Amino acid sequence: MNITIVGTGYVGLVTGTTLAELGNTVYCVDIDEDKVAAMQQGVVPIYEPGLEEMFLRNIQSRRLFFTTNLNEALQKSEVIYLALPTPPGEDGSADLSYVLNVAEKIGEAMTEYKVIVNKSTVPVGTADTVRETISAVTDVPFDVVSNPEFLREGFAVEDSMNPARVIVGSESEKAREIMSKIYQPFTNTGIPIIFMDEKSSELTKYAANSFLAVKITFMNEIANYCEKVGADVDKVRLGMGSDDRIGHRFLFPGIGYGGSCFPKDVKALIKSGKKEDFNFQLLEATENVNQNQKTILVSEIENYFDGDLQDKKIAVWGLAFKANTDDIREASSLDNIRMLLEKGAEISAYDAIAEQNVRKILGDKIKYATDMYSALENADCLLIATEWSEFQNPNFEMMAEQMKNKAIFDGRNMFALEQVESTGFFYKSIGRKT
Ligand code: UGA
Repeated sequence: MNITIVGTGYVGLVTGTTLAELGNTVYCVDIDEDKVAAMQQGVVPIYEPGLEEMFLRNIQSRRLFFTTNLNEALQKSEVIYLALPTPPGEDGSADLSYVLNVAEKIGEAMTEYKVIVNKSTVPVGTADTVRETISAVTDVPFDVVSNPEFLREGFAVEDSMNPARVIVGSESEKAREIMSKIYQPFTNTGIPIIFMDEKSSELTKYAANSFLAVKITFMNEIANYCEKVGADVDKVRLGMGSDDRIGHRFLFPGIGYGGSCFPKDVKALIKSGKKEDFNFQLLEATENVNQNQKTILVSEIENYFDGDLQDKKIAVWGLAFKANTDDIREASSLDNIRMLLEKGAEISAYDAIAEQNVRKILGDKIKYATDMYSALENADCLLIATEWSEFQNPNFEMMAEQMKNKAIFDGRNMFALEQVESTGFFYKSIGRKT
């Protein structure tokens, strides 16, 4: 099948590459000329394990193309995926202007039946709005389908090639058939397609992300309480997760959830509720708890230094919002660094993958180390903000040689307590005994 993807951000690019890998001919459209030129030359604009290989393979097989010309791509394709940004507006609700703008252009250019697929995370009712926008400018028949994306950054290729399920929201038989054909390779391997109406599909995405945000936040509260009563959250987590109604995944406490999805989607769902006079009390609490959790270690660091962080040298390992990505959107590392700088501390940070993105925001307000040990030079303490696997089993002797003072504040529970016990380090993690 010939498919156009509009928007080559994270979701668009990965979806386009996956659909090409499944045998379709895919035209990826973006307004950013430099980005399109670079992709045409085989440059992948994002860091994502395994993506480059698949991207290059499909370009070479002439199944994956990049262009700035929406009309041309549209004429060649029966199905058009919208993978456009829906950033939070000032009030937290999703801004649909990118989506509706492109919908109108599609309506104006369309000359035969098309299926327009909403891949972006959009509020309930957006399929209707897109339909109205297109109908206002054309009489050509078309269908609008909601087909939310569930991939995780860092596992995008794995998740998109082997999703837990595919959700297709559409009440049109014709559109359902076309979508079934696209995802046939998945159904062949036992991955279910769940058909539903558009609104339920749109809400499924918000509900899934919000539920996971609640799950993490619940565990963060349990972890904080563990500290009060002298329990160990690792044990509690294992005990709880062994009940398969709860499951082990997304129960890891830390310094809060971040990224481009959970914070935005939780806020947007709260906002959508308010429009219907509906209060998502649980989500409001989740948001507040998460906001506190992000910088929970700053007060620990402050207490450790008797309230005085002036000129303290603090090393930070990890800047990305989680491991295996260069994404720093809503990263807890940034909240921590900003607060520590305000309190007079000096920061030396290390993150081989996300450093470039942080430089764009923090510039030379902090120092950037080229490896994890040199970040520790003369440091008064270390803060671990991202769970990169290279931090998992460090040489504690080498660390001690570099540091002025042996103290670790671990926002990701990287080490087993026994691992640190004999090293002489002060070790503070989340929800476990120090
Ligand atoms: C999330 C969802 O997991 C995807 O299913 C969804 O498609 C995506 O949002 C989206 O809407 O586009 P992502 O933001 O890439 O994916 O990252 P996650 O792996 O879900 O992690 C989100 C945050 O939760 C990170 O800050 C991570 O460190 C934190 N987290 C995750 C925890 O603190 N504890 C956990 O146990 C798991």
